[in-house]
Amino acid sequence: MRRPLIAGNWKMNTDRSSGTDLASAIAGRAGDAGDVDLLVCPPSVYLASVKESLGSAEVALGGQNMYHEASGAFTGETSADMLKDVGCKYVILGHSERRHVMGESDSDVNKKTLAALDAGLIPVVCVGELLEEREAGNTAAVIKAQFEGSLAGLTADQMAKTVVAYEPVWAIGTGKVASPEQAEEVHADLRSLIADSYNAETAEQVRILYGGSVKPGNAAELLGQDNIDGALIGGASLKADDFLAIAAAG
Ligand code: G3P
Repeated sequence: MRRPLIAGNWKMNTDRSSGTDLASAIAGRAGDAGDVDLLVCPPSVYLASVKESLGSAEVALGGQNMYHEASGAFTGETSADMLKDVGCKYVILGHSERRHVMGESDSDVNKKTLAALDAGLIPVVCVGELLEEREAGNTAAVIKAQFEGSLAGLTADQMAKTVVAYEPVWAIGTGKVASPEQAEEVHADLRSLIADSYNAETAEQVRILYGGSVKPGNAAELLGQDNIDGALIGGASLKADDFLAIAAAG
């Protein structure tokens, strides 16, 4: 069975003091979270301090982005090895804010995904449709194109390790959560895409997270769906109580 992954994407929030306090609060009560994997993804400049605050608690660390090259003249970028060097196990890639604010393409996300896997990081690859794409009935086609473009060229073993996150863009930070049925439909489609591109066994292993206005009050119903294997949480991950309450629902 797939073990749920409850991931906090802190985005460009916290400072060193509030970030380390948040990490310590989560670490101190991580044991109450139940049978789930916990992950926090702070801003890159605080990764090392947050890692220290997490201590030996069972809470993994992740980056919010990386560049696909290993090193060199790429001012302002961070490599997969650098993330590993400060203790990261995961990296979020292709988040909708990277795609829509910073203009990342599926091909950019694909290069990063392959580089992350090569370096031994677990990529959390995000896909999701815009409101107008949903309203035009294009959700399945958009998700398929993002899946095929962002996850091209992985071996079945690499696919099995990769985490996919479905984040409908219209549900991110808006308080408008996808209904459990809407989310489950896309998650089931994603699992079929994996089965078609690889095989049924691989598809059964891949964890597919839902993200978009997940809160303690809606988590249990979302996480209760057959193909929803965890959550990628923005706003609610900035409060230890809310983050851990969502984890307890997993
Ligand atoms: O990556 C998490 C995210 O985009 C969802 O944000 O604030 O709607 O939980 P939020």
